[in-house]
Amino acid sequence: MKISKVRSIYFSPTGTSKKIVEAIAVGCQEGAVAEQSNLTYPTSFDTLECKADELVIIGVPVYAGRVAPLAVERLQTIKGNGAAAVLVVLYGNREFEDALVELQDLAKEIGFQPVAGSAFIGEHSFSTMNLPIADGRPDDDDLRMAKAFGAKIAGHLTGMTGDSFEPLAVPGNVPYKDGMGALPFSPSFNVGMCTGCGFCIETCPSGAISLEGELQVDTELCIFCCACVKSCPEGAVTVEAPPLKEKMVWLHENCNKRKEPQLFF
Ligand SMILES: Cc1cc2nc3c(=O)[nH]c(=O)nc-3n(C[C@H](O)[C@H](O)[C@H](O)COP(=O)(O)O)c2cc1C
Repeated sequence: MKISKVRSIYFSPTGTSKKIVEAIAVGCQEGAVAEQSNLTYPTSFDTLECKADELVIIGVPVYAGRVAPLAVERLQTIKGNGAAAVLVVLYGNREFEDALVELQDLAKEIGFQPVAGSAFIGEHSFSTMNLPIADGRPDDDDLRMAKAFGAKIAGHLTGMTGDSFEPLAVPGNVPYKDGMGALPFSPSFNVGMCTGCGFCIETCPSGAISLEGELQVDTELCIFCCACVKSCPEGAVTVEAPPLKEKMVWLHENCNKRKEPQLFF
């Protein structure tokens, strides 16, 4: 099979899915720049149609053992048109549960042919300096593995004569576990520390934050991805809701044993 183009598609509020997708893309086509479709921000994508001779790397974060719901919504606007797809889920060193099988089903539904799957580890969105959870992941070893994974897939596909792929088997249950319901809270803003730089507004994937007089967060739109927490240069955005603070402590105490990426062909 001749690959005309490598394309990266990702939804990545805190940037870890983007890093791995980019490393896989580099491995697939060393020296060439992959075309990127960033689905993270409401204004950054339009309806996208892929071509049958493209190799597409699709990366999303795991939320509550499932694909992040906003990523599902945005991927559903894309047409795969028979392109080969490499599936990537990023999780914060707890578990990825049914996310990869869900991403595989979704990729098929929108017209891709999944050829490989993977689960990589990214710094947990809830990780902080005081309560680190998989901090610094993906690290150099993860990125090396991602690049080698890309090279292996591209080598395999270019050596193929036809364009029908072996069915891909990935772990996970169908029906999937229950996903994350709406959370009745959002990160807390310390208005006294806010300088009005607007980074939190720019990095919010759901358009939940506005600055009209003072910062306001629409709790119904907030997906609790923590992009605003991580992007605030003043440390003015924090997680204070007691159930989430408890969860952060639990994750810090129980998910600190390093997990390694898993690859599926
Ligand atoms: C609301 C929410 C739920 C999450 N659920 C899980 C989970 O079930 N398992 C896990 O290991 N990590 C979980 N994480 C952590 C993310 O999957 C992880 O940090 C990922 O690397 C974030 O990807 P991004 O940097 O591309 O946004 C969750 C994060 C958020 C914000």
